[in-house]
Amino acid sequence: MDIVELLNQKVRLAMTGASVPDHLPARVAVSTQAEFGDFQANGALAAAKQLGQNPRQLATDIVDHLDLEGIAERVEIAGPGFINIHLTNQFLATAAHELYEHCQTNGMRKPVAQTQTETIVVDYSSPNLAKEMHVGHLRSTIIGDAMARILEYLGHRVIRQNHMGDWGTQFGMLIAELEEQLGVGEQPELALKDLESFYQQAKAHFDADSEFADKARSYVVKLQSGDAHCHTLWQQFIDISVAHSEAIYRQLNVTLTTEDIYPESAYNEALVDIVSALKDQDLAVEDQGAMVVFLDEFADKKDQPSPVIVQKSDGGYLYATTDLAALKYRSDQLNAHRVMYFIDARQSLHMKQIFTVARKAGFIRDDITLEHLPFGTMMGEDGKPFKTRSGGTIKLADLLIEAVEKATLLIQEKNPGLTNKEQQDVAQKVGIGAVKYADLCKTRTNDYLFSWDSMLSFEGNTAPYLQYAYARVRSIFRRAGVNFGADDQNAFGRHSITITGEAEKNLSLALLDFDNTVIQVAKDSFPHTLCNYLYNLASAFMTFYENCPILKDDVPPELRDSRLQFCALTAGTLQQGLHLLGIETMERM
Ligand code: ARG
Repeated sequence: MDIVELLNQKVRLAMTGASVPDHLPARVAVSTQAEFGDFQANGALAAAKQLGQNPRQLATDIVDHLDLEGIAERVEIAGPGFINIHLTNQFLATAAHELYEHCQTNGMRKPVAQTQTETIVVDYSSPNLAKEMHVGHLRSTIIGDAMARILEYLGHRVIRQNHMGDWGTQFGMLIAELEEQLGVGEQPELALKDLESFYQQAKAHFDADSEFADKARSYVVKLQSGDAHCHTLWQQFIDISVAHSEAIYRQLNVTLTTEDIYPESAYNEALVDIVSALKDQDLAVEDQGAMVVFLDEFADKKDQPSPVIVQKSDGGYLYATTDLAALKYRSDQLNAHRVMYFIDARQSLHMKQIFTVARKAGFIRDDITLEHLPFGTMMGEDGKPFKTRSGGTIKLADLLIEAVEKATLLIQEKNPGLTNKEQQDVAQKVGIGAVKYADLCKTRTNDYLFSWDSMLSFEGNTAPYLQYAYARVRSIFRRAGVNFGADDQNAFGRHSITITGEAEKNLSLALLDFDNTVIQVAKDSFPHTLCNYLYNLASAFMTFYENCPILKDDVPPELRDSRLQFCALTAGTLQQGLHLLGIETMERM
């Protein structure tokens, strides 16, 4: 059993012994500082407050009833009533060895068994197809993908939904432009090679030529009413745009596939019913020809209710209408228990409105949990939103190419001994890993500063540091000439684990805290907690490595075996942790 869970049970039992009512929790957590023990139970303090008792007295009562025989060597009361627990080395060593036996493999650490699995929809990436993906989509894609991986690891059924923007008025203009370019013999792939400049051309054309503008407007109507010619043009446009984003997903090592695309156009037919259901329930009312839901819940300072337009006066539907249909689909058809949206903080009001309207209108089951998980803006080193030197938006494809180029230079300098092919592979993993990790290790809700130098550094809380730590642990096995797997004559892990000092103790504590950390991130969607965990684990390993010889001749075989188990667990945990963040590891770098 997980240590925190075990200690929670033990402390809670002691609380019962001290007559603390059942609903007051023990609150065991890993101690923030070594002098506060390995774990801390903070529940006594809160319980005393509730019960109007003296906290130190209550803590003493609880400790008197606390039976940690074979688990802790020392329990102390600190400050106003914290209970500090110091575990025995033997208990930790046994737990670490059990973990080793559970994971016993050459590869990644294995997940804990999960009893409760939910169906979770994760809406992420979701770019608009009219233009090429830009850095604004990077955060949603990276964070959403890490969360999808983490939830799956814990045994949940994850349904990825790439809610691509492939519908709307701008598509009239785009297909009209495509038609003209194809008319002069252009191939669609070539015409759309650079979506960004294609969009600019179409826009310039639209603004300058009123005949073209009229055609563009009529094409929107035709497209939305199912005209075959317009639909074919649109499909060509979409296919090529999707291929662009596919290339980025592969380059980014993101798990999204074309099967996860469930775009705005997929809800086209459902929109009529959404609006009429809102009308029937008197939730939507006509306002200057448009259909609008007014929400008192989000009234402004002047007490004006917040309007959600679901149909324009010309009959057209909006972003909000589609999102309502999507939510209904996710509840009714996908049977989601939890729906998570990884979208820019600037869409917070939109999401609140959608959630509220969907609940009021009964579009979703009552027991469904809805979460908008916003994130801040990516800033350049000048402290302003990340842009090109000339102030344009940076294309994601270009940014990723630059990341790999920079990593290539770095790797050539650090390890000139690698073959060309190895160098390319390492640079790819380091460059992409650095970009992703730099994003994931910051508190999601804050804006963050994009800096090549700090993300590519081999020191500090960065991807290269962790990838290097992993490669370094793996090199120990190559030097030792040992193999994984129990049947081999060079196998290890047959002996128990021994803890001879602080370094091994701290490493055990770190290794045993992985599942908890992952469970925490699955709850609150703050992946930086996992990043900090991995950084601490790597640091605990480095201290162990400096203090505990492994392969030296005078190390007795049992101790060598024990220490190799620590190495295997560390490698497997680093690899799994990075993998959950969507970052690849390599054997040498
Ligand atoms: N396409 C939108 C944009 O680029 C994001 C869509 C997010 N998902 C959603 N269900 N609204 O702003």
